[in-house]
Amino acid sequence: MTHIERDVVIVGAGASGLTAANKLRDAGLSVAVLEARDRVGGRLWTREIDGALLEIGGQWVSPDQHALIETVEELGLETYSRYREGDSVYIGPSGELTHFTGEMFPVSAETEAEMERLITLIDGIVAEVGPHRPWEHPRAAEWDQVTWAEWLEQQTDDVEARDNIALFIAEAMLTKPSYAFSALQAFLMAASAGSFSNLVDADFILDKRVVGGLQRVPIELARRLGDDVFLGQPVRRIDYTDAGATVTADGMSISAKHVIVAVPPNLYSRIDFQPPLPRVQQQMHQHLSLGLVIKVHAVYETPFWREAGLSGTAFSPYEIAHEAYDNSNYDDPRGTLVAFVSDVKADRLFTLSPEDRQKEILTSLSHYYGPETLNPVVYFESDWAVEEWTRGAYAASYDMGGLHRYGAHQLEPVGPIHWSCSDIAAEGYQHVDGAIRRGRDTAAEILGARSL
Ligand code: FDA
Repeated sequence: MTHIERDVVIVGAGASGLTAANKLRDAGLSVAVLEARDRVGGRLWTREIDGALLEIGGQWVSPDQHALIETVEELGLETYSRYREGDSVYIGPSGELTHFTGEMFPVSAETEAEMERLITLIDGIVAEVGPHRPWEHPRAAEWDQVTWAEWLEQQTDDVEARDNIALFIAEAMLTKPSYAFSALQAFLMAASAGSFSNLVDADFILDKRVVGGLQRVPIELARRLGDDVFLGQPVRRIDYTDAGATVTADGMSISAKHVIVAVPPNLYSRIDFQPPLPRVQQQMHQHLSLGLVIKVHAVYETPFWREAGLSGTAFSPYEIAHEAYDNSNYDDPRGTLVAFVSDVKADRLFTLSPEDRQKEILTSLSHYYGPETLNPVVYFESDWAVEEWTRGAYAASYDMGGLHRYGAHQLEPVGPIHWSCSDIAAEGYQHVDGAIRRGRDTAAEILGARSL
């Protein structure tokens, strides 16, 4: 077992840990990053599957994600816009298909008015709640005791309006059923993206991609750290006192003044902390869990939907694939669709054989774009729930009542141990932007508190 010493040891080579490591290194501290996998990037992963380059984890960048945009620019990476010319498609409760442009789904005038009213109402609440301390809002406890589904039921009897508004947070963001998390958690999700209106606007939230894939961000960040990134080193144990810690992985141990645990909170309990973490931490971590979503790529010889005047953007809370987009790569003549299957729909599909699952998903896509979807040249399902060092997607959220009960403690360091990941970010929560912001803030915490 190799033993080395550093000022700071970082557990996890995702966007968050690597950002913190670079900031600390730039400030003159010595660092080492221990990564369990044999690659960097965590939930960012670009893979070549049957000759197609697919971003099987996070990929989109939106204009409010300033920390991510700055990082992309600093690293000299190029971006390109998602294809969005032409009509989007919506499938309503009785299976009828309608083309539309803009953000508002083509629903009846009454439902549209209800959706507009709800969006304005939620935007107002979200502006008050904010992304930083939602638990401090005077109504935080009340909103944390009612599910997102119940809260929407209290606001309107229009089922289609409710289903559509629920989708933007439930299936599309937290990837949990709308009865499994609180209204307060939903407001935090929207606040972290600037407003609920931003989440409704696919052109805003899914704006740009990085040429070569978003994993280039952690790959470049790791390249700058050179030999101080150690792959294939799952951290098993952290022994700590107020003066520092020893972090033990499978093949090495590192002593340092500070530790940054930059892994999603559902994995904290895989590390043996000695002494055990304080009561509130041990409790809190049991209330944070990842959602479940299957990200599906289907590649075709050509983007045939474009010829039919379609943008590739499709939505329906009533379809297996609740949202889908044109995900064709930069400078690639082939056409790629990406679709998402969330929470209980994903549960059911995972009980099927791979062939039957593929058939159901492609059939759902055919409802949006026609029978040509049934025969892709490449087909791939990302299943992050089977990834030992992630266990779900996209990120963690609290169960009912957890956010106002524990949220104030989620960033508290424990002795020399600091926490950094997108799952506990404010702006950019659940997103790469939040991972980078937490990485920066955690580095600043350590630099502010340094006794090195
Ligand atoms: P992340 O999980 O990436 O990194 C943690 C690292 O710690 C991993 O490398 C892991 O292997 C390692 N690790 C865990 N336990 C360890 C241990 N004990 N010892 C050592 N290492 C350990 N975001 C976005 O902005 N735009 C998007 O379009 C999407 N879309 C999207 C799709 C899908 C399918 C997923 C899964 C996710 C997204 N996201 C996204 C979310 C985004 O990818 C995510 O929020 C960030 O990449 C998280 O970065 P972190 O560094 O916080 O954690």
